[in-house]
Amino acid sequence: MSELAKIELDGKVYELPIITGTENEKAIDISKLRDMTGYVTLDTGYKNTGATKSAITFLDGEEGILHYRGYSIEQLAEKASFIEVAYLLIYGNLPTQSELDQFEDSIKKHTLVHEDMKQFFEAYPSKAHPMGVLSSMIASLATFYPESLDPNRSKESKNLTIHRLIAKLPTLAAWAYKNSIRHPFMYPKNEYDYCKNFLYMMFAMPTEDYKVDPVIVSALNTLLILHADHEQNCSTSTVRIVGSSNSNLYSTVSAGISALWGPLHGGANQEVIEMLEQIHNDGGNVDKWVLKAKDKEDPFRLMGFGHRVYKNFDPRAKIIKKACDDVLERLGVNDPLLDIAKKLEKVALEDEYFKARNLYPNVDFYSGIIYKALGIPSEMFTVMFALGRLPGWIAQWKEMTENKEPIGRPRQIYIGETNREYVDISKR
Ligand code: ACO
Repeated sequence: MSELAKIELDGKVYELPIITGTENEKAIDISKLRDMTGYVTLDTGYKNTGATKSAITFLDGEEGILHYRGYSIEQLAEKASFIEVAYLLIYGNLPTQSELDQFEDSIKKHTLVHEDMKQFFEAYPSKAHPMGVLSSMIASLATFYPESLDPNRSKESKNLTIHRLIAKLPTLAAWAYKNSIRHPFMYPKNEYDYCKNFLYMMFAMPTEDYKVDPVIVSALNTLLILHADHEQNCSTSTVRIVGSSNSNLYSTVSAGISALWGPLHGGANQEVIEMLEQIHNDGGNVDKWVLKAKDKEDPFRLMGFGHRVYKNFDPRAKIIKKACDDVLERLGVNDPLLDIAKKLEKVALEDEYFKARNLYPNVDFYSGIIYKALGIPSEMFTVMFALGRLPGWIAQWKEMTENKEPIGRPRQIYIGETNREYVDISKR
């Protein structure tokens, strides 16, 4: 017999079903609450609200566990390629060799973007933030592929749009960077794998030979896997909400990119490096900045610390910290910002304020340091995050459309003025 929760309202007891997930997560199903009782629930920031049932990613914030489709992030980061993980997230299982070959071939067929899109880049100011450029370029893709406007047209058309998007995002991201430094665009090289091709388009020049360092390719592969999905976070919830109106995949992902841009979400990786630079330029007194972060009158927060769901440790941060040490050692990078980051981490982890609030370094604390070592400029850090998160957004959108979820439309508790008579402007 299924469990029930009892709720007493205005002297009447109502029974609500309890839903249990495969990892034993429990939820009270309130989908009929308003019809039954006239009440809604209030949960600003959705801290206790399950917005969907999903079979893609499981995370346990207390235990520091993260699984994609049942596979641990530790195993995937060590053994898989990013494209393999993308397939896993989107289609549900690890691909066989022939499935992976077909997937990769299909993606490679679509890496070019329409030549007319190059003109869009020219219209942006040179200081345009690449996240703004990327978000509008991705939305613009829908105008070049009108058949994508009906997201549920056919399975084949859905797959074509998915493959196009995965193929074109690295090209558009690298071109956003090239445009910002007014360098010529590099066309994709399809004999390269996904990560190598992206690095080539970012750093090669038509005038010289460019050899992509395998250490850098491998670090990028790990970083993208670690960012590939994270269940119902801010940008993914945005994707599900926008997609729920049957908007096309390009505009839906463009909205996800915009949500990711914010400094409390994906934008934090850029903020971390800027914060470390600020501390460094200020003389490197870490204690002073920790004090500032604790001061409620001071808006300063330690960027890269804290997480909405991880209240013990962020398993991605553990993997990335090791990758960070390996990359810096193998590339022989000696970065004073890294010393500051390590001091900051030590001081904060031992501090009562941070301990009491379960504030630990998150994935963004280290990713910025690796990106910097790889030669990626700080304004591109959040773009790198978007590149990694794309398969997760697509998988979540695909799941939602296949489950025919209804349009997302929360309720509210109105606290404004009650009915007022209109007053003529001369009498106000
Ligand atoms: N520095 C100092 N104090 C902090 C920090 C921080 N980075 N993060 C949280 N706190 C404090 C808050 O002031 C609050 O203190 P109080 O209880 O005395 O009022 C308490 O810890 C809880 O913080 P909330 O903001 O309520 O926690 P919430 O879950 O809403 O926010 C968030 C999580 C947004 C990640 C927050 O920790 C933060 O702003 N961190 C810095 C930005 C960052 O690194 N974002 C990246 C997140 S990871 C990602 O998106 C991939």
